[in-house]
Amino acid sequence: MLANSGPISHHLLPMNAVVEEDGMLSVGGVRLDYLAHTFGTPLFVYDEGHLRNRCREALSAWGTGVAYASKAFMCKAMARLAYDEGMRIDVASGGEMHVAVSAGVPPSRLIFHGNNKSEQELLRAFEYGVGSIVVDSFDELRRIAKIAPQFIDRRASGQALMLRINPGIEAHTHEFVKTGQVDSKFGLSISSIMEAVRAINGMEGVFLSGMHSHIGSQIFNVHHFEEEIRMLVDLADDIMAIPKEGGYDEFELCVGGGLGVAYLSDERAPSITEWAETVKAVITPSRLHITAEPGRAIVATAGMTIYSVGTVKDIPGVRTYLSVDGGMSDNPRPVLYGSGYEAFIAREVNAERSRPVRVVGKHCESGDILIADARLPEDVSVDDLLVVPVTGAYGYSMASNYNKVPRPPVVFVSSGDARLVIRGESLDDMCRLDVL
Ligand code: LLP
Repeated sequence: MLANSGPISHHLLPMNAVVEEDGMLSVGGVRLDYLAHTFGTPLFVYDEGHLRNRCREALSAWGTGVAYASKAFMCKAMARLAYDEGMRIDVASGGEMHVAVSAGVPPSRLIFHGNNKSEQELLRAFEYGVGSIVVDSFDELRRIAKIAPQFIDRRASGQALMLRINPGIEAHTHEFVKTGQVDSKFGLSISSIMEAVRAINGMEGVFLSGMHSHIGSQIFNVHHFEEEIRMLVDLADDIMAIPKEGGYDEFELCVGGGLGVAYLSDERAPSITEWAETVKAVITPSRLHITAEPGRAIVATAGMTIYSVGTVKDIPGVRTYLSVDGGMSDNPRPVLYGSGYEAFIAREVNAERSRPVRVVGKHCESGDILIADARLPEDVSVDDLLVVPVTGAYGYSMASNYNKVPRPPVVFVSSGDARLVIRGESLDDMCRLDVL
């Protein structure tokens, strides 16, 4: 239950959000009523200036080498934006790799992740010459050993590989999004790292360029990352002690992503800068190149979803159900993780929100709840534009067509312009893969 019934807290809004004189929100100089009218609802809106600002902060905090974890929100425009701002792109499947390359991102700027990369995906990564492949298992190393010799003539230095370490660190976050604990499908155990290093050193056409680990997602306590970087530095010392032809020019240690963001008025998250400073304070500068790959912290707060209210159903003595024209298909996070969100009405951003309602979607199941205990202004009614802020990460990227509900369009707004970056699906799209 939300503690207060005040207006939505402005730190949950994108940085270029402004409340107009009539009370309507505009983002990037574009009013939300105009956006809804032009593109329809539901609609994902991203403040492009906010996205760029976060990329720039990541770059100045972590330095070159920092990557955008594209799983948080991926489309050609986003890949292009992150690349233009100087970030590398973390891709975790052949599909994400394809989108990045299709957007014109040079493959050398890609970091290829995944705990079960197929031979085809690895072959494609070698063909492209991706910046690095983050090896997650010995089976993957065996697949790489088969592929690498075919590419020896192509690149003098060989294909860069990093090793993903399972750090055995438990971050305090949801069970499904923590990844660093010992019992995890990700990475190689610390005790097997030297064996993996020796295997790579003995392989042709590849070289070890660094190590990676990721302890989880939506982490508010940046001190969890101190333990992780200490572990990586200790391992790097051991690895560099192994004699190797040519030695190591520069060795990358990537702490992964995971920085949390505020979804609720009473939450405050550390900045990307605080995160980087905390990690970097642990180690003394050396040949080690410390990097990270934030996803959520880059895109979450930049994005919001505009819905139309379709039904307000009051069940006396029980509760009021307020149904919107989207739901678990465009934001599965509440259902999957019990994630909390807030909402407000676009035409009265600064209104008191004293009316308790349950915001639900239009899908055919009772679990289709977006906000179990929302607060909205007393006068909320049918046809109002309801806005859920902080939906920029893992919303569109995990969207589905459940109930054959078309996925919404996505627009980037900036300096008074709205640019469509993903078109909304049509009804015909609902059968475009069908074979009959
Ligand atoms: N690097 C690796 C290897 C990862 O697995 C992830 C996220 C990231 C970076 C980016 O983490 P971020 O900075 O976004 O926390 N669907 C869940 C989140 C899953 C995160 C999976 N890995 C959610 O909606 O909360």
